[in-house]
Amino acid sequence: MALWAPNSGLILDLAAGTGDSTFALLQTDPQAKVVALDFCEPMLRRAIPKLSRFQGKAILVQGDAMELPFASSSFDGAISAFAMRNLSNLRIALGEIFRVLKPEGFFLCLEIYTPNLKPLRLAFSLYFGRLVPLMGKIIAHDADAYRYLPNSVAQFLPPEEFAHLMEEVGFQGVEFRRLFPGTAVLHRGFKP
Ligand SMILES: C[S@@+](CC[C@H](N)C(=O)[O-])C[C@H]1O[C@@H](n2cnc3c(N)ncnc32)[C@H](O)[C@@H]1O
Repeated sequence: MALWAPNSGLILDLAAGTGDSTFALLQTDPQAKVVALDFCEPMLRRAIPKLSRFQGKAILVQGDAMELPFASSSFDGAISAFAMRNLSNLRIALGEIFRVLKPEGFFLCLEIYTPNLKPLRLAFSLYFGRLVPLMGKIIAHDADAYRYLPNSVAQFLPPEEFAHLMEEVGFQGVEFRRLFPGTAVLHRGFKP
């Protein structure tokens, strides 16, 4: 499974937040032009200084992943990093991504998952479920905000079901790869 297609044209970064995923994409693929979409304006504002060095290669758009403000068949590819867990309706969001991709356009999605190896799973849940909220309580005085992350990971679909949902909205060649040590999974699919 190739991780990246170079010279990949116009790419949508869905729920781009403060622009880290857009930054990584443009560093990897200097030929690409990226539309970084997020519905949270303050997050996008923080992306501006980070992306200024790419001089016009990144376009920031405030918009909802559930109702993308783009014409059908506009993008050569789409990515999303650590975003799908946060969306209220995955099927609608995946359908929207599929709609705005050109035929043969790709979708790459990186998500956090609980590792499936038992000792790793235990270490992961201790770190993520206990230590991170405790540190959040001590440092930021807000344990709840730091409980959201482990809870959203625990409640997210298993990779097999996410892949199945991608197929249901029309993606083909759907595959996923667990990245060592299984705390992240990369999903891939194409619009036929
Ligand atoms: C963890 S951040 C992802 C950041 C970025 N992709 C990265 O890797 O740095 C998740 C983002 O999803 C955005 N988000 C959540 N629901 C959304 C929606 N319906 N439409 C657009 N963005 C959304 C949030 O505003 C937040 O910036």
